[in-house]
Amino acid sequence: MGKKVTVVGAGFYGSTTAQRLAEYDVFDTVVLTDIVDGKPEGLALDMSQSRAVEGFETKVVGQTTGKAGEGYEVIEGSDVVVITAGLPRKPGMSRMDLLEVNAKIVRQVSENVAKYAPNAVVIVVSNPLDEMTALAQIATQFPKQRVFGQAGVLDTARFTNFVAEELGVKVGSVKTLTLGSHGDTMVPVPSHCTVLQEGTAKPLSELLPAEKIEELVDRTRKGGAEIVGLLKTGSAYYAPSAAAARMAKAVAEDSGAQMPVCAWVDGEYGIEGVYLGVMAELGAEGVKRVVEVDLTDTELAALKEAAEAVRAKQADIANL
Ligand code: NAI
Ligand code: 2OP
Repeated sequence: MGKKVTVVGAGFYGSTTAQRLAEYDVFDTVVLTDIVDGKPEGLALDMSQSRAVEGFETKVVGQTTGKAGEGYEVIEGSDVVVITAGLPRKPGMSRMDLLEVNAKIVRQVSENVAKYAPNAVVIVVSNPLDEMTALAQIATQFPKQRVFGQAGVLDTARFTNFVAEELGVKVGSVKTLTLGSHGDTMVPVPSHCTVLQEGTAKPLSELLPAEKIEELVDRTRKGGAEIVGLLKTGSAYYAPSAAAARMAKAVAEDSGAQMPVCAWVDGEYGIEGVYLGVMAELGAEGVKRVVEVDLTDTELAALKEAAEAVRAKQADIANL
């Protein structure tokens, strides 16, 4: 049977994600929902009309949903649900400022996802990301490997972009890695950062001085805020939607692709029971396995520190 993906929230993040997913042309149907009357229907109609030009066949369906779950029947049979519903940051706001308001939204959405798409893999993007991912798992009661969040693909993409620009090389020749959480406790992993030169993957540390790498890491850590500061009315969505769409595609194709995601970690790296940014293998059942990459002692210590920081923040999530 053809694949079906639902994107909840037809704001900037959700609509760009839906468009990318439709343009991949690997799904039969992309469903876009929102609580703003007519917005998802209008955007879906617009995207559908781009099919003839872009040459894809995916059906794009828009549906306004109500507070009591009206309209959610449209998501039935979804293989993947991407939750983007929630407010974005305004300048000066931290992701944590969004916690209470977005928790209400993500809980309500998750309960409806559990009811109408009980077999779906859920990818969370609403902020604050680590907490909303934990909350979506609690509210859906889905197995933990079927609920995970998007942060690492975006943070890594930002880091890669900065390195490529700094060195004046192709983005495709640069590999970077960030683990940990989305925000202050992001953990860059310099030992896995390389640049392909004359067929050889050279460690980033051989190409840039430590202070320059630290500068790029810092810019990556604050990458979301930099864009919020420029836009003034919302947050980033082109790179974020590219990240979430790739994750949904990996699930739909059961590809086994490895990417950094916010996944349930229980024992790996000696870290117990917490949603944390780690490398994971994605497939039809969600996170097939958490991949333990070799870390230096310093990187491992930073990852454990990040785990404790997000554990503390996730502790009260069930009460929100
Ligand atoms: P936006 O304001 O453009 O869109 C949010 C949409 O959610 C609105 O259309 C709103 O009507 C809808 N919505 C609110 N409550 C809903 C509900 N109960 N059911 C369905 N839809 C509902 O915001 P944007 O830019 O699309 O960002 C969405 C979220 O993604 C924000 O929380 C933002 O912070 C987060 N984000 C996360 C990133 C990550 O790396 N994880 C990166 C960028 C943004
Ligand atoms: C970002 O990193 C705000 O989390 C959002 O762009």
